[in-house]
Amino acid sequence: MRAPTGVIPRRALRSGDPAAIAQLVAATGFFTSEEAAIARELAEAVVAHGPASGYEFLLADGPGGLAGYACFGRIPGTEASFDLYWIVVAPHLQGQGVGRWLMALTEAAIGELGGTRLYVDTSSRPQYAPTRRFYAACGYVVAAELPDFYRPGDGKVIFLKALEQR
Ligand SMILES: CC(C)(COP(=O)(O)OP(=O)(O)OC[C@H]1O[C@@H](n2cnc3c(N)ncnc32)[C@H](O)[C@@H]1OP(=O)(O)O)[C@@H](O)C(=O)NCCC(=O)NCCS
Repeated sequence: MRAPTGVIPRRALRSGDPAAIAQLVAATGFFTSEEAAIARELAEAVVAHGPASGYEFLLADGPGGLAGYACFGRIPGTEASFDLYWIVVAPHLQGQGVGRWLMALTEAAIGELGGTRLYVDTSSRPQYAPTRRFYAACGYVVAAELPDFYRPGDGKVIFLKALEQR
């Protein structure tokens, strides 16, 4: 899959990334400040402990800074299943194929780590309808729905993609 113009992927986190990630997450207007803090903490854990943290990142550098990123990790206790924890694209770059490209690179990176199944949790709330459409467009299917999981009226939707074996 061709990279979107001017966007370059990288796997290794740098010391300035946790702050840039928190800023990017906040800029989407999509997440609470608590969620932005968690995104930052996950990145800090990887800067401090590397893969031993249990988290992996794939970042996309754009001309004006961080264009997007994905955060994922192996699910403990499974043979080859992974969770996608975050996928975020800078607001001014959304809708231009960066997310689909990041997802394809993430799936390839997980394949290289031996992963065969990628799970993504999201909310059933109307605010997340575009996110659910994005996952469906990337080939994910709804594997389970847990009504009222987060709070009354806010269920968890679990998407799944069986990754092609390499
Ligand atoms: C969800 C997100 C990562 C998608 O990235 P993106 O770069 O905007 O998506 P793309 O341009 O690559 O779109 C890929 C496909 O998803 C679909 N899609 C993406 N955003 C969509 C939206 N808001 N509504 C409907 N479809 C959407 C596109 O139509 C496209 O499908 P197509 O190629 O068949 O037309 C990005 O919009 C984002 O960061 N949103 C806020 C954060 C978020 O919801 N993250 C996921 C939860 S952690």
